[in-house]
Amino acid sequence: MILIDGKKTSQDIKNEIAARVAEIKAEGGKTPHLAAVLVGNDGASQTYVGAKVKACEEVGFQSTLVRLDSSVSEEELLKVVEDINENPDIDGLIVQLPLPKHISVDKVTNKIKPEKDVDGFTPANVGRMTLNWPAYVAATPYGIVELLKRYQIETSGKHCVVIGRSHIVGSPMSILMARNGYPGNATVTLTHSKTQNLAEICRTADILIVAIGKPEFVTADMVKPGAVVIDVGIHRIEDPSKKSGFRLIGDVKFDEVAPLASAITPVPGGVGPMTIAALLYNTLQSAEKKVF
Ligand code: GUN
Repeated sequence: MILIDGKKTSQDIKNEIAARVAEIKAEGGKTPHLAAVLVGNDGASQTYVGAKVKACEEVGFQSTLVRLDSSVSEEELLKVVEDINENPDIDGLIVQLPLPKHISVDKVTNKIKPEKDVDGFTPANVGRMTLNWPAYVAATPYGIVELLKRYQIETSGKHCVVIGRSHIVGSPMSILMARNGYPGNATVTLTHSKTQNLAEICRTADILIVAIGKPEFVTADMVKPGAVVIDVGIHRIEDPSKKSGFRLIGDVKFDEVAPLASAITPVPGGVGPMTIAALLYNTLQSAEKKVF
């Protein structure tokens, strides 16, 4: 069984990005610059944005964090996005989600210039990805694609079952696995909450990608021996035996599924760490005008 090490792979990618940034700077080029907009005081969002800013420093990017009060109006936030859109020094722009209820996520997302949409959330980038054009691919699907590539997992002709049809993970993942290319050329089944006989379908998967958001949902009886299992879930559960008082688990019951799998991503240390590497990669692509 191969344990797919997302922590190491994301560090490899960050090292590659840092090396390219050093080259750009040595050639007198502009330092890649990511702007993050954070609205309100949500604890998890602050942690995520903090990690993104820190990762920018690690690879030699410039970063700008714009913090706005949770009472900010939709109009004011749209104006902030517009200003960053028009700022030629900034290559990538992310608006951390979730946003307060009085603000339309769709309106804000659609305001982001596709050329700077390094989260890959705008309709333009989702459309480009679907057409197999150069595009910014969202962080989690990008991370999974990169893990499959770097571990040289065969996908052509395989049956890939995706559990979960969210806009940011399941749906794009199903498109990327089915497209003509590598990774890709798989026969894909996209399953969701209304799917019947889910366990039976999962048992036919050569590659099982789980993004359902339910702790330890996938059990051994749902997995074919020799399958590749990618676990996108991350859940914090209380564990008094740990110093922190909690531990992290995924959507897959790792202890019973791992012995069956030919390769599997752990939680933590699998897909999670890859997401920040994806954001940095997209920002570098933008700085080098490689997508648009
Ligand atoms: N909130 C949770 N994940 C993400 C992400 O990848 N991008 C943004 N902008 N917000 C998020």
